[in-house]
Amino acid sequence: MDKVALITGATRGIGRQIALTLSKEGFNIALNYRKENEELMELKKEIEANQVKCFQVAGDVSIFEECEKLVKQVIEKFGKIDVLVNNAGITKDMLLMRMSKEDFEQVIDVNLIGTFNMTKNVISHMLKARTGRIINISSVVGISGNAGQTNYAASKAGIIGFTKSLAKEVASRNILVNAVAPGFIETSMTDVLKDEVKEEITKNIPLKRIGVAQDVANVVKFLASEDSSYITGQVIHVDGGMLM
Ligand SMILES: NC(=O)c1ccc[n+]([C@@H]2O[C@H](COP(=O)([O-])OP(=O)(O)OC[C@H]3O[C@@H](n4cnc5c(N)ncnc54)[C@H](OP(=O)(O)O)[C@@H]3O)[C@@H](O)[C@H]2O)c1
Repeated sequence: MDKVALITGATRGIGRQIALTLSKEGFNIALNYRKENEELMELKKEIEANQVKCFQVAGDVSIFEECEKLVKQVIEKFGKIDVLVNNAGITKDMLLMRMSKEDFEQVIDVNLIGTFNMTKNVISHMLKARTGRIINISSVVGISGNAGQTNYAASKAGIIGFTKSLAKEVASRNILVNAVAPGFIETSMTDVLKDEVKEEITKNIPLKRIGVAQDVANVVKFLASEDSSYITGQVIHVDGGMLM
């Protein structure tokens, strides 16, 4: 296979696992990161061990010009982008009463505007190629809402509207756009929670376990594959049945 997948926020957590999983499927990987670090170089080695090419590209997804530059670099390196995974995301949780305008804006800027910035720069290449997959990482809280996460839930709900609208715009060009809505997944984003809180969350998950990054990566792998060629504009929950 000579396909190329670009994954944002790929240095750790879910993004890292998506990059590794797609590399095992034979995708050449473009890893987006913000700051070069040891983990990034280790990940690059692990990916290359799967006999595919790996190219790392720096850039903050919330800055349009940086996305423009990084997409250009990937196109120069690989000549195309078959799959874009908009994974980069942040939280800045606080009850609305105490949430600053800056914290609201920053979460929207990275999670929602970042998804726009990357997609806008990639879509022209996919339109020309008349093929492509865009996979956006949303969240179940974008559907259910969550106290203390007005900024995050709004950004993730926005991603769902964005996904469905774009899916309708580009379906005729054979570009499929879907979202994945993880529930509670063990990563550095959720490590900050106390064990008691995690236990309480687990009680409310019908499958009685917290998810792992691989659970999400498996669904992304499916959405990037030929097996999902009749699926577009969908939001696939990966949450152990937390939200039905
Ligand atoms: N974990 C969960 O329970 C859960 C549930 C639902 C949805 N999600 C979503 O899944 C995605 C991945 O989350 P995670 O749990 O893997 O989080 P994580 O471990 O905190 O990783 C987030 C990744 O995003 C990158 N990132 C943050 N801001 C960025 C920016 N402005 N530009 C480029 N990269 C940026 C980070 O890079 P740095 O290393 O440079 O910070 C990091 O690689 C997010 O969209 C998150 O909202 C997670």
